[in-house]
Amino acid sequence: MTEQWLPPIYRDGDVVFILDQRLLPHREVFLRCTMAKQVVNAIRSMAIRGAPAIGVAGAMALALGARTILAAETQTFRQKFIRMCEQVRTARPTANNLAWAVERVYSVVVENPGATVAELQTLIQEKADELLREDVATNLRIGSWGCKVIPHGARVLTYCNAGALATADYGTAIGVIRSAFAVDPTIQVFSCETRPFLQGARLTSYELMRAGIPVTLITDNAAGSLMQQKRIDVVVVGADRIAANGDAANKIGTYTMAILAKTHDIPFYVAAPRSTIDPSLPDGSEIPIEQRDPKEVTHFQGRPVAPTGVNALNPAFDVTPNKYITGIITEVGILAKPYGKAIRKALEE
Ligand code: MRU
Repeated sequence: MTEQWLPPIYRDGDVVFILDQRLLPHREVFLRCTMAKQVVNAIRSMAIRGAPAIGVAGAMALALGARTILAAETQTFRQKFIRMCEQVRTARPTANNLAWAVERVYSVVVENPGATVAELQTLIQEKADELLREDVATNLRIGSWGCKVIPHGARVLTYCNAGALATADYGTAIGVIRSAFAVDPTIQVFSCETRPFLQGARLTSYELMRAGIPVTLITDNAAGSLMQQKRIDVVVVGADRIAANGDAANKIGTYTMAILAKTHDIPFYVAAPRSTIDPSLPDGSEIPIEQRDPKEVTHFQGRPVAPTGVNALNPAFDVTPNKYITGIITEVGILAKPYGKAIRKALEE
């Protein structure tokens, strides 16, 4: 493919542009955001999604919002900015990266008590830009560590979209695949469609095709059978929040893939930046799981696919216990069991 890559989010002066992922793969449309609430709406409605991407978007929302705060005194600015931080932080509940990014941006205010309002607004913008650049660099490092676990000619299964679209660029799980493909063009990918939002069908297939990486789309239900037939060599997925013991929340259905991989003796890797790790949670049982509109299950593109009035549940994430995870690929290396110790060390680096 020769098309130019579309960044999922970028800033041009006073405007933040967000590629509307709800319209992919059929239409490539950028939302033009000049106000914090537009970015927050884009996060809530999943125009932008994926843990690191919503972290970066959250930071950009704060930069736009900080500019609109009317305050002569730093103290007044600070109070209003704290309220704004809370609105951004709660736009989606599961991904740790969003709260992490808000905290990083807010630290600018704490670390510069003598700054004027105008200076703080500039510093906040600079921090948001820094988080965007940092995310790309982090993903490149995840890729260079992760490619070591992809065997020559591997058939890699991935779930959801943990690619460039889910980050500032390059991707985490797909970053690993990109990096492996750069040295071994014989690898190929199986992308699960990922019901109900179809991140795998709509986004991962699109992204891999644009990158020229061979991809085969399968239904989520086909994964077990392919594993049974020895047609999958390794599984690599992303994560939204990783507890202190290595339990990892990711898109609903990831847990099923992990158990299938274990049953068939296939290595199962989680690729994620350290900003996804939440050391305050001892294990995965307390990771907040977003419950989304049941209409995403009962309808497809606005058309009902189930009887009117049927009860439906739509948990957006599940938690994979650490025992099913072969390794956690981060920007500072591949963490191995026991994860508690490895995670503590990684967070100190
Ligand atoms: O609901 P989404 O699309 O935001 O869920 C995204 C995922 O579950 C990804 O796998 C995860 O955020 C990792 S992205 C690098």
